[in-house]
Amino acid sequence: MNQLLVHAGNTPRELLDHCAATGIRVQAYSPIAHGAILEHPEVAAMAERHGVSVPQLCIRCTLQLDAVPLPKTANPEHMRANAEVDFEITGEDMAALERLDARDYGEHAAFPVYSGK
Ligand SMILES: NC(=O)c1ccc[n+]([C@@H]2O[C@H](COP(=O)([O-])OP(=O)(O)OC[C@H]3O[C@@H](n4cnc5c(N)ncnc54)[C@H](OP(=O)(O)O)[C@@H]3O)[C@@H](O)[C@H]2O)c1
Repeated sequence: MNQLLVHAGNTPRELLDHCAATGIRVQAYSPIAHGAILEHPEVAAMAERHGVSVPQLCIRCTLQLDAVPLPKTANPEHMRANAEVDFEITGEDMAALERLDARDYGEHAAFPVYSGK
């Protein structure tokens, strides 16, 4: 088991492939990009097309990357919604989410892992 920063817009392909090839299960921490991706227009448009929320799309994305998502929420409604990910992201949309660069965490970058503080 390895816990890695994995989310739509940050998919370390070589590392994910290495883990898959060597039997290491990946846990995706911060699957909603620490909340920063909620404002991403391309991701929001894709979520709308799928009839889901951005967090649901992002959590589903990590599942389809064969990772175990570790979303954090302090809101019971969000927690309930985050578990409702029984839909399929198309191969084309998965590829688009992999191509995306969503590693600017903005105001959320104060989190120690990202800020280096
Ligand atoms: N191993 C490591 O080095 C490492 C590093 C970082 C994090 N982690 C772990 O990974 C987990 C998650 O990380 P994280 O907190 O950085 O990021 P995250 O799960 O990507 O994002 C959390 C943010 O998303 C919001 N959110 C969640 N569900 C939502 C929904 N349905 N609608 C709207 N907003 C929603 C949360 O706000 P609300 O509370 O308002 O819902 C919170 O602001 C944590 O348990 C953490 O311990 C591990």
